[in-house]
Amino acid sequence: MIIEQLDQPLPGSLMPTLSGNYYTDPAIFHAEQVRIFERSWFCVLHESDIPTPGAYKLVQVGREQLIVSRNRRKEVSAFFNVCRHRGMRVCTEDEGTRRNFQCGYHAWTYDLDGKLIAAPNLTRMPDIDREDYGLRKVHVREWLGYVWVCTAEEPPSFEETVLAEVVDRLGNVESLDKYRVEDLKIAKRIAYEVKANWKLIIENFMECYHCATIHPELTEVIPEFAEGWAAQTNVGEGAHFGDEIEGFTVDGSAGVTELPLIDPNQDRRYFAITVRPNVFINMVPDHVIIHRMFPTTEHSTYVECDWLFLPEVVDAGIDVSKSVELFDRVNLQDFDACEKTQPAMSSRIYDHGGALVPAEHHISLFHEWLVTQLAD
Ligand code: FES
Ligand SMILES: [Fe+2]
Repeated sequence: MIIEQLDQPLPGSLMPTLSGNYYTDPAIFHAEQVRIFERSWFCVLHESDIPTPGAYKLVQVGREQLIVSRNRRKEVSAFFNVCRHRGMRVCTEDEGTRRNFQCGYHAWTYDLDGKLIAAPNLTRMPDIDREDYGLRKVHVREWLGYVWVCTAEEPPSFEETVLAEVVDRLGNVESLDKYRVEDLKIAKRIAYEVKANWKLIIENFMECYHCATIHPELTEVIPEFAEGWAAQTNVGEGAHFGDEIEGFTVDGSAGVTELPLIDPNQDRRYFAITVRPNVFINMVPDHVIIHRMFPTTEHSTYVECDWLFLPEVVDAGIDVSKSVELFDRVNLQDFDACEKTQPAMSSRIYDHGGALVPAEHHISLFHEWLVTQLAD
C-alpha cells in the first residue's frame, strides 16, 4: 500500500514534508491564527497607506480586525476594531480619514489615540474611566517604512524574531540597511488573491528547484537559478545577474538609478529574505520588492506586493514597468503553481506528505518552526 510505503523513512537524499492535512485542516489553520499570526510581529501596511493625521486602514491579523491609524502628532497606532460598549465594529469602511472614531451603534466616540472622549450621557456616568474604556491597543513597530503589529499582550522581541531572520539570511542587519528601504517610495502595488494555503507560498518562495520549470524570464536574468539552488541557503550570498544582463527587468534591459549606498557585492545581485510569518523581502541594485501575505482561510491567501524605488525615480514618473513586469510574472507563475498544488493536499496520496530534495532541505527548518509554534 502506498501509505505504508510513505510511512517508511525516506531515502537519504529526500526529507519529508508536512502531511497534507496541514494545508487543508481548518483546525490547524485556527491554531496557526492563534499561535502564530496573533503572537508574531506581523507586517500590515506601508506608512504611506496612512499618510496624514486621522488616516486609517483596516487590516486582518489572524482572527482579529485592526484599525491602523495616525494621530495628530503623526504617530502610528493600532487598535482592535471592537467598540468597548457592546462590540460593534467602530470603523466599517476599509480605509478613510477621521477626526475621531465614532461607533455607529450608540455613538461612543474615541479620539485618535483611542481614548473614550464622548458618549450619550457620559457625564452622568462619572465612574467610567475613559482610558480603561478606550479602544484596545495593539503593539506597533515601524521598520523599513512599514507598520508591524503584534496582537499578543507580550510581544516577542522584534530583534530575536524579525531581525534575526535578516541576520540568518544576510549575516547582519547592516547589509539590509544599505538599501535604505525606509526612504524608498512605492512605485507599484499589485494585490493577488491566491487560492492556496499560506505555507505553500512560503515553501515556494524558499526554493528555486522550480525556477527552471516555471520562471523562464527570471532564469534568463539570473542563470544560476536554473540549477535549482536558491541563494537563500547561503548566508550573505546573493544570486548573480547573467553576464549580458543589464538590470533586473523582464528582458534584462537596464533598470533605473541604483540605490546609492549599496556595497559592490550587492551590485548585480539578487537577495531574498523570508520573514516569518508573512513577509518576503527581495533586494536588487535599483529597487526592493516586498510581499505581505494575509492568510484568509486554510486554502486562500491575500498577497500585496510593493515595488519600491528611489523617491526621485518615482516622483519623476520614470517608467519602471519592465522591472515590475519581471516580478509580477514571477508572482503569477509561483501562485499558479501553489494553486495547482493546493487541491492535491487533500488527496489520500498526500496523507503523509511528499518529499524535499537536497535543494529544498532547508524548508524542513520552516516546518520544524511551524510545528514548534503550534505545540507551544
Ligand atoms: S456598540 Fe459601540 S456605541 Fe454601542
Ligand atoms: Fe518561484
